Amino acid sequence: MSILLEKQLIDWRRELHRHPELSGEEIQTTQKIKAWLAQYGIEASSHGLSTGLIADIGSGHPIVALRADIDALPIHEQVDQDFSSTQHGVMHACGHDLHSSTILGAAILLKQNETKLQGTVRIIFQPAEETYSGAYEVLNTGILDDVSAIFGFHNIPDLPLGTFATRSGAFYANVDRIKIRIQGKGGHAGRPHETKDPIVVAAQLINAVQTISSRTINNLDTCVVSITQIHGGMTWNVLPETVELEGTVRTHSPEVREAVAQKLRQIAQGIAFANSVEILVDWDNGPSALINTHEWAELSKKVATDHGYNVVDVPLYLIGEDFGAYLEKIPGAFVSIGSGSDFGLHHPKYQPDESLIFPAAQYFARLATQALESIQQNIEVRNEQ
Ligand code: NI
Repeated sequence: MSILLEKQLIDWRRELHRHPELSGEEIQTTQKIKAWLAQYGIEASSHGLSTGLIADIGSGHPIVALRADIDALPIHEQVDQDFSSTQHGVMHACGHDLHSSTILGAAILLKQNETKLQGTVRIIFQPAEETYSGAYEVLNTGILDDVSAIFGFHNIPDLPLGTFATRSGAFYANVDRIKIRIQGKGGHAGRPHETKDPIVVAAQLINAVQTISSRTINNLDTCVVSITQIHGGMTWNVLPETVELEGTVRTHSPEVREAVAQKLRQIAQGIAFANSVEILVDWDNGPSALINTHEWAELSKKVATDHGYNVVDVPLYLIGEDFGAYLEKIPGAFVSIGSGSDFGLHHPKYQPDESLIFPAAQYFARLATQALESIQQNIEVRNEQ
């Protein structure tokens, strides 16, 4: 049975890999997952989501949730394999195909032991993780309102196969986007005194914002400020009217996030004043930091050790993950499982080891079962007191 299921999960992963769909467009993916679940007697429904699915296994309270993300990326695959992407410029380059088949496997294993479950396991196939909107769409359905704990994972290519890691507290970062517009006064490049040159101002600003992390924020806190785009000017002998900059700020605590936003505005104001230009700063809050609940991170690790994973320490990540949105509302834990690829996530040559899938499916079935038992035990202890 288990060998058959393992082969089935790998086949499904390859089918998803062959036909990747972008965030919010996961229509075929959703239909396939629904049909595959149905083969094993699991009924899934959309609960108002335009893409993505939710299925319950077991019955009654408490409820714990397992979440997989299902979307792909606008990347043209450069891996030559018999299940390479058939969609030009679209690729499962973040391994959400592995995540989906893993959680499909967990759902099937849980279904086989449904009568022994001490509550309900709610399975979430979430759309649009890459655009950081899917978690909010799922939350907005209200389907997670009565969930006591939620779990999810990402495969990590840097970690070898069989390796597991997670952290209590902060894990993934606040990922914010900044746009800065310097409104100067253009003119002849030979007569700069008649202009308010936004290019010189941009140079000052780019250097000055680097002092936010080095001189404003405690160096023991994480803080990255990166300017990633600069647009200004059309030719060699004209000073432009405006320069536009764009970039990103990565932090882990809400206080540091707020302090960076404030300091950035202050620096912009000061430089604008000194140069008699106007500087507009637009701060766009992206996904919030992913903060694991201590209790559930510890249970995740314990189950991983029992399951035979090599549990290792993991540093804070400076990337984003929209699972953080769930953890703002619901206790739970997000974990990393090694997928051993030579190329990283979002790389056109990313090629994770799919033998991660079956053991991870067994792991999540076990984790959900034990999480329900742990909640039941706590309820009983409280009732006895
Ligand atoms: Ni991803």
